[in-house]
Amino acid sequence: MNHLELIEKAKEARKLSYSPYSNFKVGAALLTKDGKVYLGANIENSSYPLCMCAERNAIYHALMEGEKKENFVMLALSADTDEPCSPCGACRQVMSELLPRDIRIFMSNLKGDIKETTIEELLPFAFSSEDLK
Ligand code: THU
Repeated sequence: MNHLELIEKAKEARKLSYSPYSNFKVGAALLTKDGKVYLGANIENSSYPLCMCAERNAIYHALMEGEKKENFVMLALSADTDEPCSPCGACRQVMSELLPRDIRIFMSNLKGDIKETTIEELLPFAFSSEDLK
């Protein structure tokens, strides 16, 4: 699967968003080396801080199916934004710990704009488990 197909999967995931409070739907799709795709969408709650982002839902979905970090090769996210949708800070922190350094990350919007980025670019000087030693 190429990045354009993965972005289409993220757009499909977006349709599963539960976002009655923000009305802002986000979809994410995580691809493994053996071609499996795990979807995530943002899921909100009337207790607002409990809202969960699409990217984290996709990552946790894959981990709960037994996938290993080393096997993740691409992550795509999509939302109806002017510029390709950028992951929030909390997701960047989670991505920096649970995704491999060399994963390809594609931000996109519904108009077809795409921007490729990396973990390092999204979160330089990340806090990590190394800092706890
Ligand atoms: N959201 C995501 O799903 N991913 C992001 O990286 C940015 C924000 C969701 C959270 C909330 O449900 C809605 O978008 C508005 O912030």
